[in-house]
Amino acid sequence: MVTIRDVAKYADVSPAALPAAEETALTPDVRWWESAVIYQVYPRSFADSDGDGVGDLAGLAARLPYIASLGVDGVWMTPFQPSPQVDQGYDVSDYCGVDPLFGTLAEFESLLEQAHSLGLRILLDVVPNHCSSEHPLFQAALAAGPGSPEREMFHFVQGPGGDVPPNNWQSVFGGRAWSRAKPSSGTDTDWYLHLFSAGQPDWNWRNPAVGDYFDGVLRFWFDKGVDGLRIDVAHALFKAEGLPDSPSEGGVVDGLRSNPQVSDQEEVHEVYRRWRALAERYQPHRLLVGEVNLEPARAARYTRADEMQQAFAFAFVKLGWDPEAWAAVGNDLEAARREHGATPTWALENHDIVRTVTRFGGGELGSQRARAALVALLGLPGPAYIYQGQELGLPEVDVPLEARVDPMWARGGVCRDGARVPLPWTEDPALHHGFTLGTAEGPPSEPWLPQPAGWGAHGVDLQEQDPASALNLTKAALALRRKLWRDGVFTANDGGTWRVVPGNLLICERNDRFLVAVAMGAEPVRLPDGTVLLSAEPLEQDGWLQPNNAAWVLRG
Ligand code: GLC
Repeated sequence: MVTIRDVAKYADVSPAALPAAEETALTPDVRWWESAVIYQVYPRSFADSDGDGVGDLAGLAARLPYIASLGVDGVWMTPFQPSPQVDQGYDVSDYCGVDPLFGTLAEFESLLEQAHSLGLRILLDVVPNHCSSEHPLFQAALAAGPGSPEREMFHFVQGPGGDVPPNNWQSVFGGRAWSRAKPSSGTDTDWYLHLFSAGQPDWNWRNPAVGDYFDGVLRFWFDKGVDGLRIDVAHALFKAEGLPDSPSEGGVVDGLRSNPQVSDQEEVHEVYRRWRALAERYQPHRLLVGEVNLEPARAARYTRADEMQQAFAFAFVKLGWDPEAWAAVGNDLEAARREHGATPTWALENHDIVRTVTRFGGGELGSQRARAALVALLGLPGPAYIYQGQELGLPEVDVPLEARVDPMWARGGVCRDGARVPLPWTEDPALHHGFTLGTAEGPPSEPWLPQPAGWGAHGVDLQEQDPASALNLTKAALALRRKLWRDGVFTANDGGTWRVVPGNLLICERNDRFLVAVAMGAEPVRLPDGTVLLSAEPLEQDGWLQPNNAAWVLRG
């Protein structure tokens, strides 16, 4: 067995001392996340300070005032730790550092300080299901050979012989979930498990040394003052004992269905109980938000009172433009909330899924629906996340085949690059629409994903000047949301009662004073009585909502 000391040596963190309680300049409210809206930053595509074509920490730091101006409460940054970048940073080779591609640890520390002084909290991504095949512990395991304690940190297993892997599990990215440890060795016939790409070996959470290692990782960032963590593939850390074949031919993490052969094991909840206790040693308490890609009833079990505070409502994240589906998912989430006390965490976009403008029909129609959906999102009962560019109404980009880099695409899955194209800050195409902040000399490199023609039409500078822009709508919704919390119209105890009324008007009643309505049919529909506080488009007739518009209604 690898000892804790070995683990600490690799992680370069001391598991010994517990952190001292630490204060930040932000609101001292320990349950700050209940009303929070968090803005997701994909650092590669946000802002590039040095002209190498990849966004970085200094670029993000320079643009923090923009994020603060939106009126959000914090930022979730996807991984920037050292990584071979096989999966754009979700293949971590050092959990406690900064990849030189993005900057330095000192730059991160100053970014954190700057964010806090602007009233923004910072959440990082932690990737506990797997690491990079370049991680020193995986390299040590490869070198140590079959049967060694080093291999116990991962899932190294003998196959039945020849080219047949230990079981039938398929990778989420496509192809089998197993690779040979040493393909050319005649004596080392171990395979290792990777639910994602071969460059992302899964940790063996049944080995307690793995849990100890991650305690050190959490403390490292919490001690620095990081306000919370988004937990990648949070439901999959434990696999079923003995790694049995999966009855489903689909992937191992099979859509929203709990797959008892692979993920969603009871043991994983102990990890989050331990992490929650750790998060609560700090003042204010640190936040844990899980990527729990499961149906509502199973996902809610991860946000019981002593586990994570939040888990994304994935059933909702993936919805199309379909009122019955929204209402059904909404009511399932509400039932789960009542049973487990788990308030849903709302999102409609992230770096893995097709942007709402495109998903909801594309073009003018898709843009209108995406605006309506954003207004709905921010009025729902619970915390919400918006993804960079969602506030600009960016569509999914059809990235040219030769420019695609997503490993999921390379393994035969869908391509996620279209939601990751660098942001247009300016209408003017100079410096890649302002994505590049400057260069010491010469022209900047091309962005890591090309910006399409017409990208400047979504530019931040244009939208800032247009009162009817998606950007200004987002700001207005966020400001009003804050006020409604302050005035007690929104509370942490709000539920969500969803229904579809004739004419395909979707209604979510948040409490007896407030409801959200979305016109999802083809004809204008009458709104329930009350005062319209906000709508995605101006109302054409009092009390009526045009198709693809959404409104917040104060009743009584
Ligand atoms: C999560 C991330 C995704 C990544 C995968 C593997 O789903 O959001 O981008 O590819 O985990 O780490």
